[in-house]
Amino acid sequence: MASTSTHHFQGTPDNQVQIFDTTLRDGEQSAGASLKPSEKILIARQLALLNVDVMEAGFPASSAGDFDSVQQIAREVGGQDNAPRITGLCRTIERDIDAAWDAVKVAKKARIHTFVATSDIHIAAKFKKTRDEVLTLARDMVAYAKAKTVGHGDADIEFSAEDAGRTDPYYLYKVLEAVIDAGARVVNIPDTVGYTIPDEFGRLIKGIVNNVPNIDQAIISTHCHNDLGLATANSLAGAQNGARQIECTINGIGERAGNAAMEEVVMAMKVRREYLGNLWTQIHTEAFYETSQMVSDLTSMTVQHNKAVVGSNAFAHESGIHQDGFLKGRDTYEIMKPEWIGLNGSKLPLGPRSGRAAVRSRLLQLGVTPNDDGMVAFFEAFKTLADHQKRIEDEDLKKLLVQVGL
Ligand code: KIV
Ligand code: ZN
Repeated sequence: MASTSTHHFQGTPDNQVQIFDTTLRDGEQSAGASLKPSEKILIARQLALLNVDVMEAGFPASSAGDFDSVQQIAREVGGQDNAPRITGLCRTIERDIDAAWDAVKVAKKARIHTFVATSDIHIAAKFKKTRDEVLTLARDMVAYAKAKTVGHGDADIEFSAEDAGRTDPYYLYKVLEAVIDAGARVVNIPDTVGYTIPDEFGRLIKGIVNNVPNIDQAIISTHCHNDLGLATANSLAGAQNGARQIECTINGIGERAGNAAMEEVVMAMKVRREYLGNLWTQIHTEAFYETSQMVSDLTSMTVQHNKAVVGSNAFAHESGIHQDGFLKGRDTYEIMKPEWIGLNGSKLPLGPRSGRAAVRSRLLQLGVTPNDDGMVAFFEAFKTLADHQKRIEDEDLKKLLVQVGL
């Protein structure tokens, strides 16, 4: 059963899962979600308050504007004490890597995140190269990136094998071994097209743990897309099998159907901590609701009402049976407290499916304590109104009180 404490769990370092936020990069790649630099810095500050471990601020080589914005975030947010690590994405191309490093190097903790596709579909259709050529490119460009960071504190290199979910695992193992040898300290396993099933993705991560000889020198990361609605489940399966970084976005925004939603991944680890082998994150979950609203407002990407954790219905109990159960004990229908994500209590919306218990409870909140006969009369009037009106607000209740003479 869910713990009812709001206390932040601190587990062992081995079980800590680093949260890599890519709202400002993959999230901003959502169709129609583009952000101005002034909006990106607001989100970056909020992500720092949320206490993410790593923030991917953009793709510096993609435009001068993106370069400036990543650099501004690296300076203003990444320059603070205890700030998240700041990274910028780049292809395995020297000028891309140069741009990424020039943009992030002002951060106290900087990362170059370089990627190349490793699936045969991408290697053949996009690059017209061989597997060996791609492996050599990956290794050489990680070494190139690594050389740039030498002497810059604990700046590090992350390598992503794009479309890893559809890559031959034996080839993937060889690529990962080569890039770790060249200096990568995080190896990211993207399910770029959201194709894998949780058990399959978990086995892919386990295969990497068991077959890449130098894997102890790197953190395995997941980056799951949501094309089949499995991004959160796949990310958790990855962590259960040894991944210790999860890449995700606020509200799950991102290319096509989006990325794993940070609030879902983190709350699953908080609510089901024991089942998930005591995995934990350092996220300040009380900032989730505010962050979700900010990202939704600035990107104009509406959060669906029934969205897990941050949707407007996520803590709303509608039917009479549920409202009655909730009033007898919150645990009946709530596995986490709204306060844990920064909300001030749950909602019991009144409407056609509401029962006597919820209506009575709302009357008590309005300062009215009806006797049994009064309650019978009031509830009858309430039901008649609710037949014509989907939602009954406090103003409606006050009018009904006058109508039945309470
Ligand atoms: O989905 C993906 O493969 C990516 C990589 C560039 C990390 O976003
Ligand atoms: Zn992606």
